[in-house]
Amino acid sequence: MNRALLRLQHLGSFLAGRTVFDSGYYRESESTRLMNLFAHVDLDRWRGMRILEVGAGPGRLGDAFVKLGFSVTSSDGRPEHVDALRARGRNAFVLDLDRTPIDASGEFDLILAFGVLYHLAQPAFFLRGCGKAKVLLLETAVCDSFAPVLPTVREGGGWRGQDQAVSRVGTRPSPCWVEEQCRSVGFESIRDISNSLGNWSIGRFDWEARGAGEWRREGVNLRKMWVCEQQHETAR
Ligand SMILES: C[S@@+](CC[C@H](N)C(=O)[O-])C[C@H]1O[C@@H](n2cnc3c(N)ncnc32)[C@H](O)[C@@H]1O
Repeated sequence: MNRALLRLQHLGSFLAGRTVFDSGYYRESESTRLMNLFAHVDLDRWRGMRILEVGAGPGRLGDAFVKLGFSVTSSDGRPEHVDALRARGRNAFVLDLDRTPIDASGEFDLILAFGVLYHLAQPAFFLRGCGKAKVLLLETAVCDSFAPVLPTVREGGGWRGQDQAVSRVGTRPSPCWVEEQCRSVGFESIRDISNSLGNWSIGRFDWEARGAGEWRREGVNLRKMWVCEQQHETAR
């Protein structure tokens, strides 16, 4: 799908009083990413863990964990998304990841951070706060560079911005930048589970690394998914 068509879809949703999260490609990305995640992990090892979903948007990824019997609290930097989550009975609070360290937001064992790292102006600040969790499930857009780089991008606002950076400034980290940061905050096991199972119409996990620095190829965003874990039973 090209950018113009995508913008038209966003505008159509906005004019019809719906959110961008009602678009077909969002639903598609939710099921493909969850499918990829669940194909690569043993959920039973995490039974009993308290989950914090960040940058939740409509919170449908968190819903999947609720259905699987986990205790899930969701958060987002936008109060309107949090209000919608609460209105349907979910535990939720406003958390701007560029401003509030996640470890000051309560006691959680597992952080579910899908589709949000690249919407942060300060992704290192966010990741530092994740170091106390036992598990970090991380999914993000990335740039194709072999160096640890963090290019900054300006993101859309208004009707185009409901799912974009709260600060209007995002980043497109390289995979090795993300892995270095996760290691430096104490995750000993950092497993890249990016796989074609997770692909959807405008997001791709099985892209070929060329080191050209781009974060989009032929209208499709380059993505990565990791499972980061503390190997010791007691997280730091
Ligand atoms: C692309 S959506 C991802 C929604 C969902 N997690 C998913 O992956 O389908 C990004 C979400 O991050 C939120 N967001 C953007 N900047 C944020 C920030 N600084 N702190 C917390 N959430 C933020 C947006 O409001 C939006 O709901």
